[in-house]
Amino acid sequence: MRVALLLLALMSVTDAREQQPKCPAQTSLFGAALQSLESAWLRSAENTRCWSFAVKDTDGEETVNMNAVRLNSGHMLPSVGLGVYKSASGGECYQAVLSALKLGYRHIDTAQIYGNEADVGRAVADSGLPRDQVFITTKMWTSNWGFDKAAAGIRQSLAELGTPYVDLFLLHAPGDPATRADTWRALEEAVREGLIRSIGVSNFGVPHLLKLAETASVKPAVNQIELHPWQQRPDVEAHCRAEGIVLEAYSPLAKAQKLGDPVVRQVAERLGVTPAQVLLRWSLQKGFVPLPKSNSPDRQRSNLDVFRFELGAEDMATLDGLESGLVTGWDPIANNPV
Ligand SMILES: NC(=O)c1ccc[n+]([C@@H]2O[C@H](COP(=O)([O-])OP(=O)(O)OC[C@H]3O[C@@H](n4cnc5c(N)ncnc54)[C@H](OP(=O)(O)O)[C@@H]3O)[C@@H](O)[C@H]2O)c1
Repeated sequence: MRVALLLLALMSVTDAREQQPKCPAQTSLFGAALQSLESAWLRSAENTRCWSFAVKDTDGEETVNMNAVRLNSGHMLPSVGLGVYKSASGGECYQAVLSALKLGYRHIDTAQIYGNEADVGRAVADSGLPRDQVFITTKMWTSNWGFDKAAAGIRQSLAELGTPYVDLFLLHAPGDPATRADTWRALEEAVREGLIRSIGVSNFGVPHLLKLAETASVKPAVNQIELHPWQQRPDVEAHCRAEGIVLEAYSPLAKAQKLGDPVVRQVAERLGVTPAQVLLRWSLQKGFVPLPKSNSPDRQRSNLDVFRFELGAEDMATLDGLESGLVTGWDPIANNPV
């Protein structure tokens, strides 16, 4: 058996600010080959879980600790995901996802517009992990807006991913207000059909969320937006927290543009971790679910190794003070009509 695995320590927290319980201090990640993950945590009754499982390679077995957050749909979302934006279709994306799954990632974030859903699906299949042990997110691009086009787009994504269901399907952006409600209805219908487990949105500001609530029969489980110390969107955070919508942090490393920031470096040096780990830990302690992208196995490993240390209140406040309105990519929250 290639791997053992195990479920462990659990802790439920009701305050959203403490959505990420401390995992017991443990080893960092090694392991090359893979394993399976006991699915007991998926049946957990609590909102947040800390679980441990083993990854094994020829050098031995290591324990990976990770958290998972319960969505308002009832499904559990692993607290760190691998982003694959700009992981090129073909070898690059396939290798990145395969490597991440071997290291212990259980959550992959792709999108129709990334052009690499098929590579993600192939890597998940080739990992040897049971399908229900990997959480796959994809996103509906705005050219598929409208009920019929969205319904066809969902089936196209399933075919590309080679899977009978997607764990989380997001509207990639607010898109055209005239067809947004019908597009959302297509996602709701696909949940009823068993093609999607949870549905959510991305790049929605508070006015977009309020508008969607006027017609939606299912509340978004997730809002995925750009979030890092230089872009915090406190209004969206407060609204999502109040509504029980989990915030996923995209570009949690600010696309590597701020890893040399002196404040971040100082905290990293004092704690003996990397600047990227500081940013990911900040994200987790804010209650966000960060989605760092890396094609490098070494960086993937260290980006997942963020459950064995904590930032103190003072460091969190210092990082909170870095807000500057930085947008590293696009800004549909500001630019899409309501
Ligand atoms: N919904 C949306 O509109 C939206 C928009 C943007 C992103 N996203 C999602 O969020 C994911 C992450 O965002 P992102 O890709 O924009 O940016 P990011 O994760 O903040 O940064 C990725 C960059 O950081 C580098 N990197 C990763 N780990 C590092 C480390 N430990 N040390 C130094 N450099 C490191 C990566 O290079 P290497 O690959 O060479 O390591 C890459 O250049 C995307 O892949 C996508 O899934 C969604």
